Amino acid sequence: MASRLLLLSPLILLLLISASRSTSDSNPTNGFCSVEDDAELSSSSGRILIKQGTVVNAHHMEVADVYIEDGIIVSVRPNIVVGDDVKVIDAAGKYVMPGGIDPHAHLEMDFMGTVTIDDFYTGQAAALAGGTTMHIDFVNPSNGTLSSGFASYKVKAEKSVMDYGFHMVITKWDDAISEEMELMVKENGINSFKFFMAYKGSVMINDELLLQGLEKCKSLGALAMVHAENGDGVVVGQRRMIDLGITGPEGHALSRPPVLVGTDHCTFNSTQKSLGYGDFRKIPNGVNGIEERMHLIWDTMVESGKITASDYVRITSTECAKIFNIYPRKGAILEGSDADVIVLNPNASFRISAISHHSRSDTNVYEGRTGKGKVEVTISGGRVVWEDENLKVTAGSGKYIKMPPFGYLFNGIDQADARYLASLNAHVLR
Ligand SMILES: *[C@@H]1O[C@H](CO)[C@@H](O)[C@H](O)[C@H]1NC(C)=O
Ligand SMILES: *[C@@H]1O[C@H](CO)[C@@H](O)[C@H](O)[C@H]1NC(C)=O
Ligand SMILES: *[C@@H]1O[C@H](CO)[C@@H](O)[C@H](O)[C@H]1NC(C)=O
Ligand SMILES: [Zn+2]
Repeated sequence: MASRLLLLSPLILLLLISASRSTSDSNPTNGFCSVEDDAELSSSSGRILIKQGTVVNAHHMEVADVYIEDGIIVSVRPNIVVGDDVKVIDAAGKYVMPGGIDPHAHLEMDFMGTVTIDDFYTGQAAALAGGTTMHIDFVNPSNGTLSSGFASYKVKAEKSVMDYGFHMVITKWDDAISEEMELMVKENGINSFKFFMAYKGSVMINDELLLQGLEKCKSLGALAMVHAENGDGVVVGQRRMIDLGITGPEGHALSRPPVLVGTDHCTFNSTQKSLGYGDFRKIPNGVNGIEERMHLIWDTMVESGKITASDYVRITSTECAKIFNIYPRKGAILEGSDADVIVLNPNASFRISAISHHSRSDTNVYEGRTGKGKVEVTISGGRVVWEDENLKVTAGSGKYIKMPPFGYLFNGIDQADARYLASLNAHVLR
C-alpha cells in the first residue's frame, strides 16, 4: 500500500502509559477556579521582551533575547534594547522554547453516553498552564456528514483560549463522504483523516473501506491516521473477560492483544467513569494528559539525560508543526513565527495533583508525580497567559489554524510509487 500511515506520537503514548497510575477521589476541588477571564491583558501584552534565556529550536540553541509584538516574534538576537512600555521577562538560566503542540486530544467529545469533562475552555486553559499552546482535536461527523460535524466543532471551539486545528474522523464510506473529504481539504484547512479499525458498531470501518480511504487521502495530499486494533478481536476478548467474571477496569487491558495501547487527553471524571461500574466495557475510555505532557517528557527524557533540549523541542512541537504543514509559523522561535512561547526553569520542580491541576476532572492519573523542570511562563498568541502560577485566559482568543495538504511526508511519494510499480514488472522466468 503506497499511502502512508501515520501513527501519532508513539513516544508520548509510551510516556502516558508508563507513568504511574493512581487516582485521588477525595478532592473534588481543582485549579479550574483560578482560570479567569481578563480582557485587560491586552494592554500589557502587545510588546514583550524575553531577556537572556537559552533560546531552543529543533536545529539550534543560543543565548539570546526574544522580542514579541502583536502576536508575532519580531526579533531573536542578543542584547535587544527596548523602551519602558515593554513587558520584560528575565529568562537568564532558563530555556525559551516554542510552546508544545498536542496533536491528539478530545475536548467536549460525545462518547460512550457522556461528554468529556474538559471543553475547549478548560482543556486549553489546562494545556497553557502546562506549556502547550496549540492542540489538534478530532472532529466526529454528525448527522452522517463531515460538514455538519465540522460546523458543530467550530461552535464548540468558540470559547477556545489558544490556537487549534482539526483532524476529521471517517466513520463510513460512500461517494458523498469522498466528495466531502475533498471539500474539507480544499476549503476547511483539514489535512488529516482518522480511520478506526476498532470500536465495532460505532466508528469502526472494515478493511475494504479503509483501503479506499487511504487511497483518497493520498490523492488529496492528506495524512491518514489509523487506530490500529483489531475490532473483532477486541469484542471476542471482551466477551471472554465478562465470561470469566472479570468486570473491573483491568478487563479493558486484558481484552486487548498484549501490546501498548495509546491514550490521549480524553478526560472523564469519577462520576462519569462510574457508568461502567460492574462492566468495564461501559467505562468511558480516556485519561488526562494535555497539561502534564510537557513536564513529563522534560523530566523523563531531558532531565534524565536521554535527549537534548533541542530534541525536546523537536518531539513536542517542531515535528508536529512540520508533519501538519504549519512550520515555521508554529514549532519555532524564529522571526516571523507566531508568538507561542514558553519559559522553562530547569532547576524548579513540578508536582502533579488533581488539587492543583486545571482540568475540570476530580482525578489525575499522574496524581503525586513529581519531577524537575517547570514551565514558569506561557505566551500564547503574544499574550502572557501563565505566569507566577496564575492563568489569565480569554475565551475566544484562540484561532483556528488551517493546515494545508501535501506536507513534507509527501515529498518523493510519486518516485517511491514509480519504483514500486517498476519492481512489479520484474521478469519472471517460467
Ligand atoms: C540552574 O542551574 C544551573 C546549573 O547550576 C545554572 O547555571 C542556572 O543559572 C540555573 N538557572 C536558574 C534559573 O536558576
Ligand atoms: C442533526 O440533525 C438534527 C435534525 O435535523 C438537528 O436538530 C441537529 O441540530 C443536527 N445536529 C448537528 C450537529 O448538526
Ligand atoms: C462529573 O461531571 C458531571 C457532569 O458535568 C457532574 O454532574 C458530576 O457532579 C461530576 N462529578 C464529580 C465528582 O465532579
Ligand atoms: Zn484519541
